[in-house]
Amino acid sequence: MVAIRVVASTSLTLFASTSSASCYYQSLSSIFTKLQFSPIWDISFAITPFSSSSSSRRVVKRMAHSIAHATLGLTQPNKIDPPKISFAAKEIDLVQWKGDILTVGVTEKDMAKDENSKFKNSILQKLDTHLGGLLSEASSEEDFTGKAGQSTVLRLPGLGSKRVGLIGLGSAASATAAYHSLGELVANAAKSAQASNVAITLASSDVIPAELELSTASAIATGAVLGIFDDNRFKSESRKPALKSVDILGLGTGPEIERKLKYAEDVCSGIIFGKQLVNAPANVLTPGVLAEEAARIASEYSDVFTAKILDVEQCKELKMGSYLGVAAASANPPHFIHLCYKPPSGEVKTKLALVGKGLTFDSGGYNIKTGPGCSIELMKVDMGGSAAVLGAAKALAQIKPTGVEVHFIVAACENMISGTGMRPGDVITASNGKTIEVNNTDAEGRLTLADALVYACNQGVEKIVDLATLTGACVVALGPSIAGVFTPSDELAKEVIGASEVSGEKLWRMPLEESYWETMKSGVADMVNTGGRQGGSITAALFLKQFVDEKVQWMHIDMAGPVWNDKKKTATGFGISTLVEWVLKNSS
Ligand code: BES
Ligand code: MN
Ligand code: ZN
Repeated sequence: MVAIRVVASTSLTLFASTSSASCYYQSLSSIFTKLQFSPIWDISFAITPFSSSSSSRRVVKRMAHSIAHATLGLTQPNKIDPPKISFAAKEIDLVQWKGDILTVGVTEKDMAKDENSKFKNSILQKLDTHLGGLLSEASSEEDFTGKAGQSTVLRLPGLGSKRVGLIGLGSAASATAAYHSLGELVANAAKSAQASNVAITLASSDVIPAELELSTASAIATGAVLGIFDDNRFKSESRKPALKSVDILGLGTGPEIERKLKYAEDVCSGIIFGKQLVNAPANVLTPGVLAEEAARIASEYSDVFTAKILDVEQCKELKMGSYLGVAAASANPPHFIHLCYKPPSGEVKTKLALVGKGLTFDSGGYNIKTGPGCSIELMKVDMGGSAAVLGAAKALAQIKPTGVEVHFIVAACENMISGTGMRPGDVITASNGKTIEVNNTDAEGRLTLADALVYACNQGVEKIVDLATLTGACVVALGPSIAGVFTPSDELAKEVIGASEVSGEKLWRMPLEESYWETMKSGVADMVNTGGRQGGSITAALFLKQFVDEKVQWMHIDMAGPVWNDKKKTATGFGISTLVEWVLKNSS
């Protein structure tokens, strides 16, 4: 006979670091009696109520799955110490700069040499002279031509710095994205050299127009801060980044640039938070934990934020049959998240809503994701829209724009399988009374967004932007780094696409082709939730449009491609910087 021993319940809190351990827990709890774990089944906590009336004060119950992960940082407290960014004036003598690595951003043109194999660029020439010609020699040997993404770090004596690095900017460095990647490449160089201080300058900073100096400097700073961040919460061992300071040389100094830097740092803190939300596996980041993280923003910034978290019963009262249909199979209950930002002073002129898809896991439901390429193992990223919305909330909480009220709305749940789950063919009713025949349970995001959009319209907002990892079809159309935008409003398209040009994120407007609605007709209900394979991201957007008031300006962003970086195996934080820019455009 085999003796089976059950480990005491306190060991449960240890399963935080690996998912295999969570299977261990789940099998234990189902095979053995729940009694062993009884102390933790019933822990409850209060969430800051929206209004102060006692009847609205609700207590949210969490399942045992999430108890061990009361905070995102629990697995490994991920204390983030971003490097200190400073600026130094144009006159600074690079040769004298003391520190670990002096890096120079160079274009292919900057690398041009004269007939004596000397750099034509004056900065490179000066450095090379101090290094006795070694910079020119080494860069040729390394075949460094200044192409975008190329970098080389050389340990050469003769300068104030220990090492000198050349970072390629490509043919013409102008776009924000090029400077983000410069900052990121410098951060990578700093990581591999375990450098604690680095300097960044541009070989041709003199050609940057004065009005672009600020944004160039802040894009470089953003790249460096995000580049040095590694999400190591779920690793048993990790090296802390040594980088303490980054000096940006030759792009100006003074209060204006310091203000711009503060803004960039606030946005970065939102992006890092958003990345952590998406990176967290679905056994850690349940709908309850997502709600808890949202409520934490509101309590940390209670000067400008209030939070309202609705449980299943409250969602039932609001008749959110579409959202609750998706949540029906799950052991982890849904949580409807509503944060509200109000400026610290002055009157509100514009009301906005940001709505994010918050599927903490998408198995597909009965239309389960099977077969190679279905990426079921990646479906923790299906709350990327909500991460964008909450990341923007965290950034805006610190920036505190005036004249604008912003609602952050997430209908968080899982799409799972069980006897209580929604069947293909079921008919459900959304909170605006429209009925939906669910011909595919894997088209669940739009079902949750339907009720979230109705709720957003009821807040009396003028404009809504929703973000969702909605369709594989959008990834087929635009690839992994571009999000599709859908809106009937040219004005809103201009605003948001304009914001994305500042932030450096890639958006592409797609058509809302009304004639494709034909494929969404149902024999039994008002509509089906899935059209054919063709134009799948367009029919998904047309479905969402059914739940938006015509008076409200609305945009849908399908970010299924850019939510995740496959090469780096990490979340991108996509959407946050554009949303923040857009809200600021609407502030006064
Ligand atoms: N969450 C997926 C979309 C997705 C795909 C997100 C790839 C991230 C990466 C969505 O819920 C989904 O399953 N969509 C289906 C819709 C179909 C059933 C109409 C799809 O795209 O296949
Ligand atoms: Mn799905
Ligand atoms: Zn999904």
